[in-house]
Amino acid sequence: MKDVETLAEWILEARPFVVLSGAGMSTESNLPDFRSRQGLWAQYDPARLATEWAMENRPDEFYAFYRMRVEALKASSPNRGHRILADWERRGLLSAIVTQNVDGLHQEAGSRSVVELHGSLRTARCRGCGAKSPGVRLLEGPFCPACGGRLRPDVVLFGENLPEAPLEEAERLASTARLFVVLGSSLAVSPANRLPGIAAACGAKVAIVNREATPFDGRAHLVIQRGIGEVLAETDRIVSEKESLKGPV
Ligand code: APR
Repeated sequence: MKDVETLAEWILEARPFVVLSGAGMSTESNLPDFRSRQGLWAQYDPARLATEWAMENRPDEFYAFYRMRVEALKASSPNRGHRILADWERRGLLSAIVTQNVDGLHQEAGSRSVVELHGSLRTARCRGCGAKSPGVRLLEGPFCPACGGRLRPDVVLFGENLPEAPLEEAERLASTARLFVVLGSSLAVSPANRLPGIAAACGAKVAIVNREATPFDGRAHLVIQRGIGEVLAETDRIVSEKESLKGPV
């Protein structure tokens, strides 16, 4: 219980408070993560499915893989962790979320300040004219309504560069945060996995809530190896109790 109490105290004191979320944030919404035992990369080879090479040379497998993920999105909804983060933003506790996720569940839960580092499956992009369409158009025969060109998922594939603006914003948020909390990421993929180090180097407290160990655990100020939903629910109970004791300012 001590760890959750510490996290709750830091959330009440430290401003700005920034979250970096990974796929572990959405497993309680029945979306698989990538690197845990039952993750996507335990069943599929990312090199054959999530690369530009795959899109060019294995289009049938590539599009089938992304259609499967867009279908899974349709059946998913925000979990209690997403909702608690949106509530903390409304209450002025949480400043922003930087997410590696492409499921759009933070926004669907009501979070407004969300930086998507890896794009979103909620949109598709035309490889010809660049026009954006709803991601579900990938399910209908992936052709651009504007020019008839081939659509692609609007996500960053392995080997592609991240969109510059979100990465710059994420680095700014990490360098100015006083509390930086990683939720559900193996911190295996750069440049997202550099953000906790940037935050720590700029004086932030860094906490990691992740079921498994991460390469950053040794440098984090707090590591909680438990389920995100239960940890955020317990933390929110303590934060709310302390807020009510403080009363109206
Ligand atoms: N509570 C806490 N931790 C969880 C939970 C949960 N409910 N569910 C899963 N986890 C943990 C897993 O143990 C794992 O360590 O979340 C972590 C998710 O790590 P990854 O599957 O590697 O996902 P992520 O870190 O987001 O991957 C980064 O890699 O494949 C690319 O583009 C993809 O954005 C993704 C990037």
